[in-house]
Amino acid sequence: MGGVRVKKFEQPKNFKFSKENLGKIDAVLKKYPSNQKQSAVMPLLDMAQRQQGGWIPEAAMEEIARILDMSRLKVFEVATFYTMYNLAPVGGYLLQFCTTTPCWLCGSGDIVKAAEDHLGAKIGETTKDGKFTLVEVECLGACVNAPMVQINDDYYEDLTPETMVALLKNLKTGKKVTIGSQTGRMGSCAQEGPTSLAEQAKKAKIAMAEDSGKGGKA
Ligand code: FES
Repeated sequence: MGGVRVKKFEQPKNFKFSKENLGKIDAVLKKYPSNQKQSAVMPLLDMAQRQQGGWIPEAAMEEIARILDMSRLKVFEVATFYTMYNLAPVGGYLLQFCTTTPCWLCGSGDIVKAAEDHLGAKIGETTKDGKFTLVEVECLGACVNAPMVQINDDYYEDLTPETMVALLKNLKTGKKVTIGSQTGRMGSCAQEGPTSLAEQAKKAKIAMAEDSGKGGKA
C-alpha cells in the first residue's frame, strides 16, 4: 500500500476464497455478461482484502486472475491504482485521515497530531501492538463535517483533538463508539440545526435552530 511503511512481511504462497465468498463470487459474476467477467475484478479484490484481514496478497491477485480469466498484470494494475486496496498488512483499525483543503482548514493537522501522539506512531506506520495503522488520504467526500477520519468502513466527523483521542481510547478498549458526527450533528445538517424547510423538520421532530440553540439533533 502506497502510504504504509512496512518493514518486512511474508506473502502467503497460496490463496483460496472461503466457501462463503465463493458463493458471493457466483452472485457477483451473474451481474456481468459471461464474456465480460473481468468487470468483477473490483468486488473480488475487496472480498479478498476482507478475507485476508485488511490486505491483498499477491497469491489472491493470481487467484482472481484465474477466476476471471484475465492476466495477472491487469489485476495488479487495478489493485495498485486504487488506494482503497492495501497490498501490505495493516492494523485491525486502518485510520485514514483526510488532510485535503477543507479538512486542513478545519484543523486536520491537529487531529493527526493528537492521534500520532496518543498512539505513538506516525502517518504511514502501524502501532507496535498491531492494532492501528495511520495513513493520510485525499478528500473522502465528507467535507461538510470536516475534519474527519475514516476508520475501516466508517466515517467519524466533526472531530476535535479531544474527541479523536476519546475515539481511539474507546476503540482500544472495545467500548461502543459513535459513528458519524462527534458533535451530535444530524447527517450534514447545519451545525445549529435546520434553517429552512421548517414544516418538514418539525414533522420529523428535528429541533430547529431557534428551538435548540445549538446542534441539530432530534
Ligand atoms: S476535504 Fe476532507 S472530506 Fe473532503
